[in-house]
Amino acid sequence: MLSKEEMQEIEVEAARYETRQAAAIDAMRIVQDRRGWVSDEAVRDLAGFLDMSPAELDGVASFYNQIFRRQVGRHVIQVCDSVSCWLMGYEPLRERLIRMLGAGMGETTADGRFTLLPVVCLGACDRAPVMLVDEDLHTNIDPDQLDTILDKYR
Ligand code: FES
Repeated sequence: MLSKEEMQEIEVEAARYETRQAAAIDAMRIVQDRRGWVSDEAVRDLAGFLDMSPAELDGVASFYNQIFRRQVGRHVIQVCDSVSCWLMGYEPLRERLIRMLGAGMGETTADGRFTLLPVVCLGACDRAPVMLVDEDLHTNIDPDQLDTILDKYR
């Protein structure tokens, strides 16, 4: 069930658009910001609230990789898995992350602290390799810096 606060926030966003459906991504972001991810139950509730079918809303979510449809850890690391980053050190970065975290791509650490995901180009190709931790973009990453970078995400 959507909370009163969630519904209020979604109504504010929906008022900016001509149709309620146009607020689909905003609505999912609002729920995700509060709950960490968007469950099947939340999709059903949101779809009803936005006058769309759950399948339609799920379709929108699947085109937007910042909406998490599976439970994630407290912090989400998204490592750019596209061509400039491949050329500039994606593989050693990925390998170090997997070793440090003890979790593979698509997995969450045993303590629930991090989820590690691949992501398509983050638009910072001139500063590759790149990763996003929550909302923070980290660029020109040297795998030796990973301890320092990740230390601030508790
Ligand atoms: Fe990695 Fe563009 S290819 S940021």
